[in-house]
Amino acid sequence: MNKISKKLAAYFIISFLVLETMLMMYLHQNIVHTRIDEEYFRLLATGSNHRNVLIDHYSDETLTHIVLMEAEGDRGVIITGKEGDVIRSSDEKLEDILPSLSTLQNSLVQNDRIVKPEWEDSPYIISAHPYKIDKNNSGYVLMFQSTEPIERLVRKLNFHFGLAGGAIIVILFVIYSILSKFLTRPLIKMKEATEKLSEGKFDVSLPVGGNDELGELSIAIRKLANDLERMKKERNEFLASISHELSTPLTYMIGYLKVAMRHDLSEEERNHYLMIIAEESDRMKDLVKNLMDLAQMDEMTFVVSKMNFSTRKFAEDIYRLVEPSFALKNVNLDLIYKEDFQIHADPLRLEQIVLNLLDNALKYSNVNTTVEFEISKEQNRTVITVTDEGIGIPEEQIDMIFEKLFRIEKSRSRSFGGSGLGLAIVKELVEAHGGTIEVKSEMRKGSKFIVKL
Ligand SMILES: Nc1ncnc2c1ncn2[C@@H]1O[C@H](COP(=O)(O)OP(=O)(O)OP(=O)(O)O)[C@@H](O)[C@H]1O
Ligand SMILES: [Mg+2]
Repeated sequence: MNKISKKLAAYFIISFLVLETMLMMYLHQNIVHTRIDEEYFRLLATGSNHRNVLIDHYSDETLTHIVLMEAEGDRGVIITGKEGDVIRSSDEKLEDILPSLSTLQNSLVQNDRIVKPEWEDSPYIISAHPYKIDKNNSGYVLMFQSTEPIERLVRKLNFHFGLAGGAIIVILFVIYSILSKFLTRPLIKMKEATEKLSEGKFDVSLPVGGNDELGELSIAIRKLANDLERMKKERNEFLASISHELSTPLTYMIGYLKVAMRHDLSEEERNHYLMIIAEESDRMKDLVKNLMDLAQMDEMTFVVSKMNFSTRKFAEDIYRLVEPSFALKNVNLDLIYKEDFQIHADPLRLEQIVLNLLDNALKYSNVNTTVEFEISKEQNRTVITVTDEGIGIPEEQIDMIFEKLFRIEKSRSRSFGGSGLGLAIVKELVEAHGGTIEVKSEMRKGSKFIVKL
């Protein structure tokens, strides 16, 4: 279950143990070497002291005196003669490990020195101190230091280091238990929360974390839960609106169909009802087409295939297409452009954008007013403006007109025939071109839609 904490603990403990072992080995070696260096130094100092005394007062008495001084304790001394023969020794056993004369003489340096420095596999370390009284009396004062105290120290050190190592492992384990609780408990809570989310339960409660990554993750999960809940709500609302939008024309159509089927109708009356049914079917067809467009845009499956084309021809074509509808409603349509220039865009999608804006301008304009359709260039950007002198948009609703299925005063808009999808499609298309759209509007004065690509 606590996999992360186990991994963390394993990495942590292994790295700590490696570090600790290295540190302990370094310390251990250092202490032992310092101690041995001390022993060498002491042995050399004592040996050279004895040798100096021997040279100054060479006599049987001095020899005896030196040997007596080293008779007790961990040290011993042997004084050899010219041929390497033992003149005096503090312990007979030492004579068995006496270094040979050749070993002593072979050395290039004829000073005081340690002749047997190894302490690990030998019972003594040995130092040699040459002396010369006269032609017949010369040789070595050989000092012996038992390695037993050093070995005792090493054993003691091993014991204490082992104890410290064990204690550290125990402490590490305690730290691990505490850490794993602190670290993994919130993680497990978050895992449970995401599982709840995937089951569609959005009321996740997560503890408020600190400023670290875990706290941020907890905030992200709570935000995700809120977003999912909002999206679910929006989807339900959208579905409800769609069903409503589709059922209204259907109800009309069924009603008029039933009327049209009556036998006592004149040909003229029947044609009138059939006309209404045809209009409603058209409206439904448009609505379904718009919905499919939007669904495609949401899934990003529609393609924008940009190309270079002339703005003048583009504007004139559109003007020719829509002018008759404007004339029919007695609304004046002015096309304004100062210069012809090339634009890089998807001509079909751009036409869809402009037609939607002009359709709105016409729908929400009163008779004998003017709609201006302008294309201009502003610092490498193409600006398309559609300005009307129509009913205007309430300020507090300006931000909402781009939402799907949003219409101001739904009942009145129905008489205009809109479903509230046009501007949602326009916005998606403008953004797919990497452009922006903004609106300025004043109630009963008119509205201005500005598209910048
Ligand atoms: N030029 C305008 N003047 C006043 N109100 C507008 C104008 N353009 C849009 N609106 C308001 O914004 C709403 C949303 O516009 P949109 O084009 O998305 O939907 P529609 O025109 O009602 O329907 P559709 O375009 O799908 O046929 C409209 O219902 C209308 O209330
Ligand atoms: Mg519209």
